[in-house]
Amino acid sequence: MINLRSVYVAALGASCAVFAFGAQAAEVSLFCSSSGAELELCQSAAEAWAKETGNTVKINKMPANWGEALPIYQQLLASKSGDVDVLTLDNIWVGTLAPHLVNLKDKVPAEEIDAHFKSALADATVNDQLLAMPWFIDAGLMFYRKDLLEKYGKPVPTTWQELTDTAAFIQDKERAGGKADMWGHVWQGRAYEGLTCDALEWVASNGGGTFIDAKGDITAKNPNAAAALTLARSWIGKISPEGVLNYDEEGARGVFETGNSVFMRNWSYAWGTSQADNSPLKGKVGVAALPVGKAGEKSSGCYGAGLLGVSKYADDVDAAVSLVRYLTGAKEQKRRAMSAYSPTIEALYSDPEILKGYPFLTDARKAYAESASRPSQATGGSYNRVSQRIFNGVHNVLSGKETAEDSLAKIAGDLERLKKRGW
Ligand code: GLC
Repeated sequence: MINLRSVYVAALGASCAVFAFGAQAAEVSLFCSSSGAELELCQSAAEAWAKETGNTVKINKMPANWGEALPIYQQLLASKSGDVDVLTLDNIWVGTLAPHLVNLKDKVPAEEIDAHFKSALADATVNDQLLAMPWFIDAGLMFYRKDLLEKYGKPVPTTWQELTDTAAFIQDKERAGGKADMWGHVWQGRAYEGLTCDALEWVASNGGGTFIDAKGDITAKNPNAAAALTLARSWIGKISPEGVLNYDEEGARGVFETGNSVFMRNWSYAWGTSQADNSPLKGKVGVAALPVGKAGEKSSGCYGAGLLGVSKYADDVDAAVSLVRYLTGAKEQKRRAMSAYSPTIEALYSDPEILKGYPFLTDARKAYAESASRPSQATGGSYNRVSQRIFNGVHNVLSGKETAEDSLAKIAGDLERLKKRGW
């Protein structure tokens, strides 16, 4: 599709201020993440698009915890609100929001769609309709203090047991050396979506499956899953602070980036922040695929992509689609790659400039290739309820309220009941 507005602006050489008063200029509202680099990138790109097209853009901020955005979106979309045009989406929400999203197959040229990874497109597709454009891909990663591993002559751990032992060893040595606040490993232990991700990683990489398999069969209750959760429980108070039971991504990052943890589980963005010029950890951090529970298993970093969708009730669907195409296009994905948001456009993975400015991508590739997906496709609109059962049950194990075996049996029972009602 030719963007008539930009052709018009270019032809007239009109300033955007003048054009904004033109009859055709649209105001497109966009939901961006609420803070930090993610907000800045979203906002500056949207403004660049507005300038280029002569439209205006209104930025709405999502709640800091992405999980809280879903009910807000559901409410706005159910009321067919024209205030919502473009939505930042977590890959696990596409099924739930499907009835309200524009099929982009009819709106975006096929070659532009096909430039994205097939897996990222599959995630955005429901009943053959492309309901969002892939924006960035991600997977849970292990960040580690390269300087401390070198200081103590320890290799980068490849199993969770090795991570447990190395974390304890370095933590104890550092504490003995005067660093009283040092911990071994920080991650996301709060009862929210992030914990479903962390738990999936421990369980899947230990041969314990993904709670529900791709066919929709419930696999939660098994000895490998129980062993993985029991190991994680053993970290609390030993290599992970009690406070981890209330950490989200930012909570963990705060501890790691002030130099108080040897390891951290987090998403790619933490590479951008920990390597920023003002970071005390610049040059001291390594990143790798998460460890496995058992040799031969995949590292199973939780797959978590960002997408952009357009509301069916947008006042100007074409302008909204134009913004989505700009934000998910190669130029913008390249700019974002420099801040550790990994592209969904395959060709960018061999772009020499990106590989030079962002060598992280090479390390993250294995994690992306071995990622594990949450059961959101199999459970569709019920995924949120499914995930709540999982993270609440896992939280009970971590806080010592239930054994892993009891909790997994309860999770499995609850999921069976949900399934019977039809998901
Ligand atoms: C990240 C991921 C998303 C996941 C969330 C959990 O934002 O991209 O997929 O649901 O973290 O906290």
